[in-house]
Amino acid sequence: MTPIVTIDGPSGTGKGTLATLVAQRLGWHALDSGALYRVLGLAARRRGLALDDPEALRPLAEALPVDFASGRVILDGEDVSEAIRAEEAGMAASQVAAHPAVRDVLLDWQRRAARPPGLVADGRDMGTVVFPRAPLKIFLDASPEIRAERRYKQLKEKGLSANLPKLIADIRERDMRDRTRPVAPLRAAEDAVLVDSTQMSIAEVFDRVLEEVRRVFPELVARSS
Ligand code: DC
Repeated sequence: MTPIVTIDGPSGTGKGTLATLVAQRLGWHALDSGALYRVLGLAARRRGLALDDPEALRPLAEALPVDFASGRVILDGEDVSEAIRAEEAGMAASQVAAHPAVRDVLLDWQRRAARPPGLVADGRDMGTVVFPRAPLKIFLDASPEIRAERRYKQLKEKGLSANLPKLIADIRERDMRDRTRPVAPLRAAEDAVLVDSTQMSIAEVFDRVLEEVRRVFPELVARSS
């Protein structure tokens, strides 16, 4: 069986960066499941579909014209790697992700990412629904304020405008929707290791997670170092 590490948690905790670092360190594949929902949200918006209409969204999810192969995200032949990172794409993703019919379509797609030599998958339900038998599950959390502050800094560094109170409000709204939806809500799996990154740097979180990887896959980490 392909070894899998899952990293779940709310938006802005640094899950994506962490998953990429861990995958690089181990030489494994990485699955950014949020990107899939973001692409779907963006595609739905561009087609003028209602984000609260699963009947309209399901066929789009089934035949999503997306290509991740190049390391970039190509939608309808256009590079949307940056566009899917915008706040609006995150909000749209959270809305389309609330529909069971949509999640159902994307489930197989995500499971096919589990290929040798291993997979690091990040999202909201990697450890609870998509890969419930993963030997190592991490749940990464941080306070909404610190997550909004990190996002604020990122936007400023990119020269984009940002409003901290609005970012905090958006993060709270998205958390609420992700945590309370009836299907695959954001929550830690019972066997997940909880890591609160509020007071930690990404390097400290990485070290903490590698400790867990060594504990669960001792021979794999020894071989890859
Ligand atoms: O991780 P992210 O911020 O890129 O995710 C964007 C949205 O996609 C998030 O608000 C909820 C949804 N999502 C989800 O429902 N399940 C996942 N496994 C990943 C993301």
